Amino acid sequence: MIEGRNVLVTGGAGFIGSHLAEKLASECTVTVLDNLSTGKKKNLPGNATFVNGDLSDFDLLKKTIDDSGIDLIFHIGANASVPNSVEKPRYDFDANALGTFNVLTASLDSDVAKVVYASTAAVYGEPVYTPIDESHPLHPISPYGASKLAGERYGFAFKETYGLTFAAIRIFNTYGTRQPRYVMYDFIQKLRANPKLLEVLGTGEQIRDYCYVSDMADAFMLVAERGEGVYNAAGGSPTSIKHLAELMVSIISPEAEIRYGGRTWAGDVNTLYADITRIKDLGFEPKVGFEEGVRTMIAWFEDA
Ligand SMILES: NC(=O)c1ccc[n+]([C@@H]2O[C@H](COP(=O)([O-])OP(=O)(O)OC[C@H]3O[C@@H](n4cnc5c(N)ncnc54)[C@H](O)[C@@H]3O)[C@@H](O)[C@H]2O)c1
Repeated sequence: MIEGRNVLVTGGAGFIGSHLAEKLASECTVTVLDNLSTGKKKNLPGNATFVNGDLSDFDLLKKTIDDSGIDLIFHIGANASVPNSVEKPRYDFDANALGTFNVLTASLDSDVAKVVYASTAAVYGEPVYTPIDESHPLHPISPYGASKLAGERYGFAFKETYGLTFAAIRIFNTYGTRQPRYVMYDFIQKLRANPKLLEVLGTGEQIRDYCYVSDMADAFMLVAERGEGVYNAAGGSPTSIKHLAELMVSIISPEAEIRYGGRTWAGDVNTLYADITRIKDLGFEPKVGFEEGVRTMIAWFEDA
């Protein structure tokens, strides 16, 4: 049970972490540790205790866990950007690999009951088959994919070696309010700047498996309640970028022409969608439909 527990959310001022912290705050005592590198204080639920600190600071992590009597950790904080990891691999390593190592060792030292880790579909690399299930080969191609996989591997090694209770969620593309980057944000910004034209990278045929952020927060709570091992989490309904572009144009600027550039960014995977049978068997059911989620995100952008 999560209700009534003392919970730490690392990265709780960020996009996914803040939605999770908000849901948790209605049923338990929440502490957030975040260095605000991309997160924002205004994202935090009012009743959360906030610690401004870095995951590379083991002593601060341990003190935070001990001072708040933390017995459950959602380890969400990370460098979440692939391009950032390519430009600054050491920064990415410190935040993700070393940061996760610190969370795990501090959890062991302080007898934390469970750690739930935000992993990523990037651990799979270029898919060799789709839909991607949890047994798909792991072949990360970016420093980010490698550092996130290192965290996952340490978690499961600590489980085997020291008995730490650990579970990981391999997150596929998540979207929603408070997400100030990636393709949807980019499309909204482009259409605001020029309501007559939307230029799209690639052919539009790329497939993604979008999950609305509140559903992703539910996935974390579910895995904290009764998950063991590793789970894919995604919306479960693959969508083309072309469909996304057409939907956004129809909502924001129906007269806009959509132009496909053909070329896309290096390392862009063409087809990325998940087999989510495993987490569905645990009780996961995405609730927010794609069009509803996109409309909510557009409305948020207008108010932001
Ligand atoms: N958004 C997605 O679609 C997606 C997909 C796959 C995996 N993920 C994973 O989900 C998690 C959250 O991603 P997000 O999209 O919410 O990104 P985000 O950048 O909004 O959130 C990351 C948070 O961690 C904090 N942070 C970064 N480095 C830190 C450090 N060294 N010490 C303390 N805090 C630090 C940031 O300030 C931010 O608040 C990450 O672990 C990411 O790898 C996200």
